Amino acid sequence: MTNYYVNPYVKECERIFPEQGRYGYYRFDMNENPEGLPKSFVDQVLKEITPEFLAIYPEPDRFLKKFSDFIGVGFENVIATNGSDMAIRYLYEVFAQTGKKVVTVSPSFEMYRVNCAILGLQHVPVAYEKDLTVNVDNIVDAIDDDTDIVVLLNPNNPIGFAYSTQETERVIQKAQEKNAIVIIDEAYHYFYDKTFLPLIDQYDNVVILRTFSKLFSMAACRLGVIISNPNIIEYVRKSHLTFDVNAIALKFGERILEQKDLVDQMICKQKEGKNYTLDILKEKGYETKDGLGNYIFIKTKKAPKELEKELKEERKILIKTFGNPMLSEYIRVSTGSKNAMEFFVENFLEDDDQQ
Ligand SMILES: Cc1ncc(COP(=O)(O)O)c(C=O)c1O
Repeated sequence: MTNYYVNPYVKECERIFPEQGRYGYYRFDMNENPEGLPKSFVDQVLKEITPEFLAIYPEPDRFLKKFSDFIGVGFENVIATNGSDMAIRYLYEVFAQTGKKVVTVSPSFEMYRVNCAILGLQHVPVAYEKDLTVNVDNIVDAIDDDTDIVVLLNPNNPIGFAYSTQETERVIQKAQEKNAIVIIDEAYHYFYDKTFLPLIDQYDNVVILRTFSKLFSMAACRLGVIISNPNIIEYVRKSHLTFDVNAIALKFGERILEQKDLVDQMICKQKEGKNYTLDILKEKGYETKDGLGNYIFIKTKKAPKELEKELKEERKILIKTFGNPMLSEYIRVSTGSKNAMEFFVENFLEDDDQQ
């Protein structure tokens, strides 16, 4: 046996990978768009994927120019990554020292914890209150001399909760005092309109993350963007893989940003679908909670795990349940167009609402 070296942090890290084989199911479990982009748009972009196109290494600048114009920042403020997933990895690698702290609320998007484990960083989880809100004092208090990174999700996932500008600035200022950067993950922007983007000009330690996996409905492409001041972007650029994002993802990203009408339509359609679902379930006496992104929580009559199994096996519908006691009475359901949600609600009520 070869006694090869294994990074001890990787050896000890516990991972749970997403379920495979989800094609062919009705997917309401992972905050994707259940229906995806219009087929006509996809077909049109695919025509550009020629042999020459595939032969050439990816060139992200055209996409980045379009994206920076689209959100109203400079070209020097953005860098593309292989999903927000990779953005988190780069930011931790560049701005955190082994053994130092990363403060996040808990539960949060899992990769914030996982990357701490892989890179040997101390994860400092700040608990939610019983009413599923976050007391920002607890985040501020958790930031100390050993903190290198603070993570805020705007809005939070999995529990939808959002910070005010004043709360966010308190966190940023404390982080600044302690020489830490603040990552503000806006994966669910467009479902939740309030953005902290202007803070990148006011504070030198603020980084915003956006992804094309949610509203833009291209989780398969793996396309994310880090937005910050030119210094932070330049440090990430130095560390990032030369051809991090593939050319097909960049092409789809570029083309969708040219279709402002399509983007607006998608925002409207998704909001309509979510409101429809919340209204009808309320009418039926269900306790629901708007996750503020493209997902909602429903307190079910049946045990969530039992319902999850039945919906999957009998109706080919996937939903998300939680082991965490704070969420164990709820299911989480991704929201999409009214059409997609009518299908979900009908099947859900048939299964869960039998008297
Ligand atoms: C808060 C948050 N950030 C990031 C991501 C992942 O984004 P990406 O698909 O770009 O890696 C998710 C995915 O669900 C998320 O909920």
